[in-house]
Amino acid sequence: MPAAAHRRLSSLYRRAFVSGASTGLGQAFAQMLLAEGVDVWGSARDVARLAHLSTEFSGNATNAGVAPGADTANTAVANLGALEGDYPRGRHGRFTPVALDLADGAEAERIFRETAAQACGGQCENAGGDQCENAGGFDIVINNAGYSVFGDFAATDFAHWQRQIEVMLVNTARLAHAALGDWRAREAAEQGRREVASDALPPRPRALVNVSSLAAEFPLPYQTSYNIVKAGLTALSESLMIETAGTSLSVIDLRPGDYRTDFARSVLYLGEHLEELHFDAGATTPLSKERKADVPPSEARKIERLKTAKAAFERLMQGGPPPEHAARALRRALLRCRSTTLRCGRFSQAVLAPLLARFGSLALKRRVQARYFDV
Ligand SMILES: NC(=O)c1ccc[n+]([C@@H]2O[C@H](COP(=O)([O-])OP(=O)(O)OC[C@H]3O[C@@H](n4cnc5c(N)ncnc54)[C@H](OP(=O)(O)O)[C@@H]3O)[C@@H](O)[C@H]2O)c1
Repeated sequence: MPAAAHRRLSSLYRRAFVSGASTGLGQAFAQMLLAEGVDVWGSARDVARLAHLSTEFSGNATNAGVAPGADTANTAVANLGALEGDYPRGRHGRFTPVALDLADGAEAERIFRETAAQACGGQCENAGGDQCENAGGFDIVINNAGYSVFGDFAATDFAHWQRQIEVMLVNTARLAHAALGDWRAREAAEQGRREVASDALPPRPRALVNVSSLAAEFPLPYQTSYNIVKAGLTALSESLMIETAGTSLSVIDLRPGDYRTDFARSVLYLGEHLEELHFDAGATTPLSKERKADVPPSEARKIERLKTAKAAFERLMQGGPPPEHAARALRRALLRCRSTTLRCGRFSQAVLAPLLARFGSLALKRRVQARYFDV
C-alpha cells in the first residue's frame, strides 16, 4: 500500500459534495478532490458560475474506460496549473454542477438529498444492493458556502444579522443533519452485513467537513453574525465529533485564516452609509457634503473606526495565501480518516495566534485583536 501522503483520496472516498464550489476555497476543494479521482457534485446559486469545472472535469475521453485509481496522466489535471505537481497523478473525477441556494433551508435539503440519491445512481455498491434514496450517497460532504455581513451591530437592521445566522448556520446544520443521519443508518447496515458474512466490506470511511473560520476563536470586528455563525459551526463540529467517536465517520472542523478569495468582494457592507443612518434609519443613498458636516464628532469617530476596520480586513485577505494552500491541508486531513480541528492559513494566524491565546489573558487577546484590525 502506498505511503499515506502518496495515496489518492479516491482509494478511500468516491463521491463528494461541495457547497459553494464556484469560487475561492470551495473551488479549490473541488479541484483537489477531482484531481484525486473523487467524483464531485459542486453547488452554486447559479450553475453558470460552475461552467469552468463542468467543462474541465466532464466525463470526457481521458476519463472514460479508466479504472478508478489507475495511474494514467491526464490533460485536465495537467492543465490545472496551480495544482500541478501537488497531487498524485491519475484519473480525474467527474464534476456535476448543482444549483443550490442556502437561503431556503427546506429547498436546499431537498436538492441535497435528491443529488445524493442520484450521485450513486439510486443504488449504492456498498449498501449491499439496498436502494439509496437519501443523503448517504456521498462519502464526503463539505459545507463550505458562505458570505459575510459587515456593519455596526446596533446601527444595522437586525434582520440582516438574523438572516445570515439562518442562511449560514441553521441551513448549513440542516445539510449536516441530513448527511449524518443517513450515514449512521448506512453504517449500521454495513456492520450488520459483516456480522453475518465475514467477507462483507468493512464500513466505508465518510467525512463531514464544516468550513468554520479562525473567526470562531478571534472574532472579526463589525462582522457580528459571521462570528456567531462560525462559532456555531465549530460547536456543531465539536458536538458531532463526540457523537461519531468510534465509528467510520469523521468530522473536520476546518478553521481557515485569511485566504485570497472573492470573499471580501461578496461581503454585504452595511457600514458605508452610517452617516446617512445617523439621520434616517432606512437610508441607502449618500449624504450631501453639507449634511455630512453635521454628523457629531462622536459619531464621526465611530464611522472612521468602521472604515479603518474594513480596510484592514480587505488588506489582510488580499495578503493571504491562495486557496490551494487550504485544499492541500484538507487533503492531508481526509487521508487520515480521523475527526479533527484543522487550522490553516498564515503561520502567524493559524499557529502562533492560537498558541499565544492559550497562554494569555482574554483581555490581552481582545486588545491584540483590536490592534490587528487598526481599531
Ligand atoms: N477566504 C477566507 O479568508 C476565509 C477565511 C475563513 C473562512 N472562510 C470561509 O470559507 C468559505 C468559502 O469562502 P471563500 O473565501 O471561498 O468565499 P467566496 O470566494 O466568496 O466563495 C463563497 C462561495 O459560497 C457560495 N455562496 C454564497 N452565498 C451562498 C448562498 N446563500 N447559498 C449557496 N451558496 C452561497 C458562493 O456561490 P455563488 O455566489 O456562486 O452562488 C461561492 O461559491 C465561507 O464559508 C467562508 O466563511 C473563508
